[in-house]
Amino acid sequence: MAKNLKMIFLGAPGAGKGTQSDIVAEKYGIPTISTGVMIREAIKNDTELGRTAKAYAESGKLAPDEVVIGIIGERLSKDDCKNGFILDGFPRTVPQAEALDKMGVEINCVVSIEVADEKIVTRMSGRRACPKCGATYHIVYNPSKDGEKCEKCGEALSIRKDDAPEVVLDRLHIYHEQTEPLKDFYGKKGVLALVEGQEKVEDTTALTLSAIENAVK
Ligand code: AP5
Repeated sequence: MAKNLKMIFLGAPGAGKGTQSDIVAEKYGIPTISTGVMIREAIKNDTELGRTAKAYAESGKLAPDEVVIGIIGERLSKDDCKNGFILDGFPRTVPQAEALDKMGVEINCVVSIEVADEKIVTRMSGRRACPKCGATYHIVYNPSKDGEKCEKCGEALSIRKDDAPEVVLDRLHIYHEQTEPLKDFYGKKGVLALVEGQEKVEDTTALTLSAIENAVK
């Protein structure tokens, strides 16, 4: 019998983690847990978490480990995670990955979407995001039907503050320094698959699904 899928998407900012997470979540009928979406939602609603994380998120810096570890612990304890889940954007540092281990969470698949830095900067300039539900589009590669509104909830699409080119360069730097070591961390556990990000979303999906099927068969 196939195992419940408990997976992590790794990858640079803009590598396509959110895009692939949504597709895999729908196929497997499990929730996507995105710390980035949760933080942006908290900023919009001006909650305590939002006030703590705002300056970090908008300037492309990582929020403090203890803050994100707390929100993930709480989210994973919910009933809808019992049959599996996808983590998008968490863990992002070795202490966050260690905290997940300490919670007793057994990850069985980690997919790292590999995209060169030069491509990331171009991609991010075309990203449009839904401020209400977090859905992501691209003006060229993955446009919404009318180019202006979210297909899922009808909200007007906007440009994320942290997608400004100078902020993207900072985020890439932080990714290489603090998040990329997680490839080694999960490689040693034998659960890591590297997926070369493709020009077309569906081509990356095909490679991702095959890596997942291998991991949970
Ligand atoms: P978060 O929202 O997680 O940002 P990120 O990791 O930088 O990732 P992105 O959402 O920017 O990109 P993505 O890989 O999901 O790409 P997408 O699918 O959108 O985090 C934001 C901030 O929150 C952080 O900077 C930090 O401050 C804070 N935070 C979050 N988690 C944290 C943590 N654990 N610890 C501390 N702080 C934390 O795709 C990008 C674009 O490309 C889209 O326009 C898409 O349509 C397009 N695209 C996707 N796939 C393809 C393809 N194959 N070909 C062409 N275009 C494509």
